[in-house]
Amino acid sequence: MILKQAATLSAFASVATAWLPEVNKQITSNNGTNLFTNSNGKIRGVNLGSQFIFEPWIAESVWKDMGCDGQKSEYDCVANIGQDAANSAFQKHWDTWITQDDIAEMQSYGLNTIRVPVGYWLKEDLVYSDSEYFPQGGFEYVERLCGWASDAGLYIIMDLHGAPGAQTAKNAFTGQYADSAGFFQDYQYERALKFLEWMTTNVHQNDAFRNVGMLEIVNEPLQDADQVSSMRTSYYPQAFDRIRAAEEQLNIDRNDYLHIQMMDEKWGSGDPNEALKDTYYTAYDDHRYLKWANVDVSQDSFISTSCSDELDSSTPTIVGEWSLSVPDDVENDSDWSTDSNQDFYKRWFAAQLTAYEKQQGWVFWTWKAQLGDYRWSYQDAVDAGVIPTDLNSVFHMGVCN
Ligand SMILES: *[C@@H]1O[C@H](CO)[C@@H](O)[C@H](O)[C@H]1NC(C)=O
Ligand SMILES: *[C@@H]1O[C@H](CO)[C@@H](O)[C@H](O)[C@H]1NC(C)=O
Repeated sequence: MILKQAATLSAFASVATAWLPEVNKQITSNNGTNLFTNSNGKIRGVNLGSQFIFEPWIAESVWKDMGCDGQKSEYDCVANIGQDAANSAFQKHWDTWITQDDIAEMQSYGLNTIRVPVGYWLKEDLVYSDSEYFPQGGFEYVERLCGWASDAGLYIIMDLHGAPGAQTAKNAFTGQYADSAGFFQDYQYERALKFLEWMTTNVHQNDAFRNVGMLEIVNEPLQDADQVSSMRTSYYPQAFDRIRAAEEQLNIDRNDYLHIQMMDEKWGSGDPNEALKDTYYTAYDDHRYLKWANVDVSQDSFISTSCSDELDSSTPTIVGEWSLSVPDDVENDSDWSTDSNQDFYKRWFAAQLTAYEKQQGWVFWTWKAQLGDYRWSYQDAVDAGVIPTDLNSVFHMGVCN
């Protein structure tokens, strides 16, 4: 493609942009490598789990070292140890959990994308100072990390993973362990909209964010279409209006607009397009965890279910979370042991990759964990030889033929 030359040159021109890699434009690392050439344009990524929203189960010993032992979420820890102690503990964590070496390692494994879960509290003036507790100072670490990823030629999906009021109850991924899902009301939507405008403006104005091409407007809302109807009819269309208005104000070319990503209809929170007037540069997210799906629990059934997985027909759909973890009640059985069943886990990885690359691609949950269980850690799975560094080699295994 003739665009290739231009794209390579623009890497030196420091132009902040947004796009879908290969589809809308090409990106290269600082040394000129296009990480999407080898993947045939498909997204092959990892989530930065527990980096900017800590989930204690992923890294219990780090959580303990931070002084958060026994606390269920960031909110609980900050409320418990106090703002100043929390700020320094979290800043140390942001500085050390995912480093530039991790980014280089991802790149060397043939990955080309990161999904960055963040909370609304990155925009610190949105936090109610008398009733909400979150660590402060995170934004500069998000910026630094996105700068490393952009230099490495990785595409970046910025994901509003923790929404105001919590989009689901009792789950640390929202940043709090809320009694109920409080997000689905107008004043909370307004706070999220302010976050999205602010993030959009940052992405387009700050060169560190030049490889952020997609902004997910809320991760995993309740899987109950009726309960979240105002999200589809009010929050989603307003999010489009406000993000596009911020872009228009900056005179961003339409080709450089952010892709706005929502959970797809298969997720179970209704049809995301229901009230959208304009679906220009939309994208969809689906999460696939057979661990929690209603399928026959056998290795053959996992492979065949993944091989025949029909993703949502909305395009582009990216499977933004999946893993190799199996149902709780068998995860520690010898029949499913990670030591003696490597062949199964290799084949299941291949089956999932094959299915997800029929659409736009995938982002594994998660890059790194302290579980000593490669089913939740891409890095550990590569170390164990379960995930190959030549990802195209999985197609030669013929798992789904
Ligand atoms: C650029 O970096 C990639 C990934 O580390 C490496 O595979 C490639 O050989 C490098 N290319 C050049 C031209 O140095
Ligand atoms: C499986 O073992 C791990 C590690 O010991 C443990 O954390 C986990 O809770 C166990 N799973 C179940 C369902 O008991």
